[in-house]
Amino acid sequence: MRRILIDCDPGHDDAMAILLALANDTVLEVAGITTVGGNQTVDKVSENALKILTIANREIEVAKGAREPLIKPLQCAPEAHGDTGMDGPIVENITMQFSKKNAVEFLRDKILAFDGKTTIVALGPLTNLALLLKTYPEVKEKIEEIALMGGGYSIGNATAAAEFNFYVDPHAAHIVYHSGIPIIQAGCEVSHAASILHTEIEQFKEKGRVSGFVYDLLKFYSKFSEGLNLDRSPIFDACPVMYLLHPEIFTAKEHYVDIEISGGLTEGMSVTDRRVWYDMPKPNTTVLYDVDREKFIEYLSSAIFALD
Ligand code: RIB
Ligand code: CA
Repeated sequence: MRRILIDCDPGHDDAMAILLALANDTVLEVAGITTVGGNQTVDKVSENALKILTIANREIEVAKGAREPLIKPLQCAPEAHGDTGMDGPIVENITMQFSKKNAVEFLRDKILAFDGKTTIVALGPLTNLALLLKTYPEVKEKIEEIALMGGGYSIGNATAAAEFNFYVDPHAAHIVYHSGIPIIQAGCEVSHAASILHTEIEQFKEKGRVSGFVYDLLKFYSKFSEGLNLDRSPIFDACPVMYLLHPEIFTAKEHYVDIEISGGLTEGMSVTDRRVWYDMPKPNTTVLYDVDREKFIEYLSSAIFALD
């Protein structure tokens, strides 16, 4: 059993990642969820986290985190996730309350109180993690690795060079990549490889409670890609979770990765050293390159139906 803490900004694809983890509770123990401003404000994404747990009928502590990135002003993504941050499904009768702790204290306490090591699954801007590492560096030795969605070895999405999570808070990403903690990076490339065909979304229609939620979720989420004349939508945040469950369906390489923070055209870019050269820097990141899409969707769909 691998113990994980999920830091996220739900977010349609964050929701898919959380449901995937919850469905695989014999492999992953979700010890808590923290939220961060990103796709929408931290208040909105935190409400969405409670909606996801309510629909999955799971009682897991949720602690709210950073409202703003470390230095840049918050830049949300309503064009992809809507005004609520998770437009589409309606979830009522939310009775769960948030933790009284903020995300940084919550993460510190959860990590230090546990005998073993914990894996951090990071699905939004890395503001909370950066604050945690700078405030309580003693947690580092008790973090197994950080499996994250962010960056890309060759492309961005928020800009030509930078992926959204790293673009929103490049300074936080820089702190995390310089922490010495091993990183598993699911970037833009593998996320696009792990896309769901818009025709495949129909399988979730009128099958059950959770699959019905997922149907409404993905029908809204797919509008963004349809607007770009694409026939599929990348399930970005499910990638790091799927890698923890089924690494065999991915291809990956070890690289040294650093984050551009000097501003300008490449601000937030994950600069990946892929040279074949002398005295290369020691790799700090397992970069995911590709995935077997059919297997990815098979495991993801099975997880959703298992929660029904
Ligand atoms: O670039 C994609 C990432 O930004 C995903 O985590 C998505 O949820 C948004 O946060
Ligand atoms: Ca996210």
